[in-house]
Amino acid sequence: MTSREVREKYIKFFTSSPRNHKEISPAPLVLENDPTTLFTSSGMQPLVPYLMGEPHAEGKRLVNSQPALRAHGLTSDDTEEVGDNRHTTFFEMLGNWSLGDYFKKEQLAWFFEFLIDKKEGLGLEPEKLYISVFEGNEFVPRDNESVEIWKKVFESAGVVAKENERIFAYPAKKNWWSMTGTPDQMGVGDIGGPDSEVFYDFGEELKIHENSVYKEDPCHPNCECGRFLEIGNSVFIQYKKVGDGKFDELPQKNVDFGGGLERLTAAAKRDPDVFNTDLFAKEIEAIEKVSGESYQDAYKPLMRIISDHLKSAAFLIDAGVVPSNKEKGYILRKFLRRSAIKMRKLKGDFGADDFAKVSEAVFETYDGLYLDKKKIGEINRVISEEIGKFGNTIERGLKEIEKIQKIDAQKAFDLYQSYGFPLEITREIFAEKGQTIDLEEYKKEFEKHRELSRTTSAGVFKGGLADYSPEVIKLHTATHLLLASLRKVLGEHIGQKGQNITKERARFDFSNLEKLTGEELKKVEGTINDVIDKDLPVNFKVMPKEEAEDTGAVHAFNEKYGDTVKVYYVGESLEDAISREFCGGPHVTHTGEIGHVRIGKQEKIGAGLIRIYAFVD
Ligand code: SER
Repeated sequence: MTSREVREKYIKFFTSSPRNHKEISPAPLVLENDPTTLFTSSGMQPLVPYLMGEPHAEGKRLVNSQPALRAHGLTSDDTEEVGDNRHTTFFEMLGNWSLGDYFKKEQLAWFFEFLIDKKEGLGLEPEKLYISVFEGNEFVPRDNESVEIWKKVFESAGVVAKENERIFAYPAKKNWWSMTGTPDQMGVGDIGGPDSEVFYDFGEELKIHENSVYKEDPCHPNCECGRFLEIGNSVFIQYKKVGDGKFDELPQKNVDFGGGLERLTAAAKRDPDVFNTDLFAKEIEAIEKVSGESYQDAYKPLMRIISDHLKSAAFLIDAGVVPSNKEKGYILRKFLRRSAIKMRKLKGDFGADDFAKVSEAVFETYDGLYLDKKKIGEINRVISEEIGKFGNTIERGLKEIEKIQKIDAQKAFDLYQSYGFPLEITREIFAEKGQTIDLEEYKKEFEKHRELSRTTSAGVFKGGLADYSPEVIKLHTATHLLLASLRKVLGEHIGQKGQNITKERARFDFSNLEKLTGEELKKVEGTINDVIDKDLPVNFKVMPKEEAEDTGAVHAFNEKYGDTVKVYYVGESLEDAISREFCGGPHVTHTGEIGHVRIGKQEKIGAGLIRIYAFVD
């Protein structure tokens, strides 16, 4: 059974008699003007006002299929789970709702019927279905009502359903649903309630994680071993949080059902791996082709992450998001850069073309449904630019990482700023070494940087922090060497007045009464190239401003700096460095990488102000 058939069957089942639901259009995946959240992450999200009592134009029984993204926020970020056989950041949620109409009895029986009916539903075996319910807490009693309903429902299919054998009770962490988490995590005004999940049993032989914590214990539906797959969740939204530990009954009792299309299709195929469904098949195939590897155990997590992230990226770009350092743009950037890291692991040398093949597969899969193949060129342009940029710094970043004995927030932040490594990627790399990064500290670094960049971005080095192309990076370091050499040849009075770097050249303004003589220019050029030939290391230290000034580091701009600054230096140590500058980076790691610097034209652009153009050959 294909995903298209599962989707159609579900909608038809719930719109037909006696269920009589109205199909409603899905909400946009990317939300434009919602100050509370970035994306639609569940089918119920757009329905909150109606679940709270406002009448819906289409009535009290609604159904649809909602594209959703869980990659943000505290309770709706599945990014780190991706890599196993069932978690994805983008997914489609099949949903049906009762707005104060039917309740538990109808919902549980109908969903069960949809699952097992051979003609109108998926034709799953009832004995392969397992159930979880809410065990109760100080706010809401144990959901015995659902237990009794489930027993009857199974009995009608000839299965004796006993508690702790087929029906299991769990705490709020597992069987309570709200957009903001468990009852104590919920904010005042949030709505939620107890829920009941259905799991498909793929059989004991399908245990996936060798090191499952439940290895010794009997396996159960919420066991992480991979044997059971959650395929649907009926939430009974009937509470609103009104204060600390205080919940009021909503004016109406609602049902909010959600089931992942990817997972329902996997169950219908009797294959627990959602990446084997037609919703991922073309993508996995494309990744196999570009990498030359096949989708087998050693490569599965990598291929799953790449296919998940590129699918989410394609949907985001299609909705108008562009990679950036903020919010939606940052999430998109994270998807693309993490994919690049995984692709590099998979095939070593990779290019933007490899990614284009995968996103083409995404468009094939959803063509005419949510995406339009005609737009693929546009999407690939955005992907290729971002991958290209990151591709330029990835190797240097990884080299830098190798040198780090013990990661901390500051180093993690520098890895982002200088090499474009999002925190999540750095965290993942160091988690493998058993090291963690303090998120609060990282946030502080970020704030500090904001201060720093506010001052530097006011300067003339526009685009330098954002442009990671090798040409720009080389010219950037070359400019530091130029200033150091000018000071060496002409004297310490030389100060930088401005600079502007493009891929083609560096333009550098400094204070001096007259233009340099031909001989002086030769000397300066020679001094720079001597340093390049010595292949000296380039490093930086982050330190308090006063301390940085004491090192003799020059201030690149006539600007105010924050309390903490970054000093880039060329040489074995900061003390012996031949160049020290307050600077945000990025730079080459060794001067030899620059190749050769040539000084082009020289101009007098004002009283005591000289401009020099430098090129890297
Ligand atoms: N809102 C619930 C969920 O997202 C069910 O639709 O799981």
